[in-house]
Amino acid sequence: MNSKITTETIRAMKARGEKIAALTAYDFPMAKLLDEAGVPLLLVGDSVGMVVLGYPDTTHVTMAEMEHHVRAAARAKPKALLGGDLPFNSYGTISEAVANAKRLVAAGADFVKAEGGAEILPQVKAIIAAGIAFCGHLGMLPQHVLEEGGYKIKGKQDAEHQKLLNDAKALSDVGAFAIVLELVTPPVAKEISESISIPTIGIGSGPDCDGQILVTHDLIGSFPWFTPKFVKPKVNCAGEIKSAVAAWKNDIGAR
Ligand code: KIV
Repeated sequence: MNSKITTETIRAMKARGEKIAALTAYDFPMAKLLDEAGVPLLLVGDSVGMVVLGYPDTTHVTMAEMEHHVRAAARAKPKALLGGDLPFNSYGTISEAVANAKRLVAAGADFVKAEGGAEILPQVKAIIAAGIAFCGHLGMLPQHVLEEGGYKIKGKQDAEHQKLLNDAKALSDVGAFAIVLELVTPPVAKEISESISIPTIGIGSGPDCDGQILVTHDLIGSFPWFTPKFVKPKVNCAGEIKSAVAAWKNDIGAR
């Protein structure tokens, strides 16, 4: 089957009980490789800021940087559904949210993702009303890491648990096609997944989400200076690069 994957394809996977694999891709070769590997959902995440651009967190990523990376990934013309993150401070008002979502779509994104629930619902509604597919992001919100003082697990307290359930329902009700759940306690992630009909895509949120997403650099060990606790890299790319360089230096007689 060679046809483009759509938001409907992703929703149908949940309906069939088929797990959804999703990974980040920030450029042409990675988008092409992951697409050829059969990953149905690719995200140009604002994690690009940390694992590619060298920022300490995602709050430094700009719209221009997101557009640049979405364009690069979109040149791979993936069969996979390709999303782009709306970066920090790019969706504070309805008009900003719609204008910036349109910029990511013009750069080649099939959908956009933004962080938050009830607080950003008017923006989400407007993005969807503009005909742009939207993926939610609940739980630990990396764009809020500075005000929260770290990457903290969400859903442990009753109020947090209830807000997560309400936010997931609200995003689903206004037409989001999927929701990323980041660092949500596994029982709460399971409850959310069972309570809505759209897929949940977990990251560090246990095995019972409808799909899983990882930052590809974590999966392949190409950003060895920090690996989240919940990731077991499948290959040590950083080590392979260093060995290849050492072997080549040896070949050419370099010290
Ligand atoms: O920025 C990102 O890469 C993300 C995913 C890992 C969920 O938001």
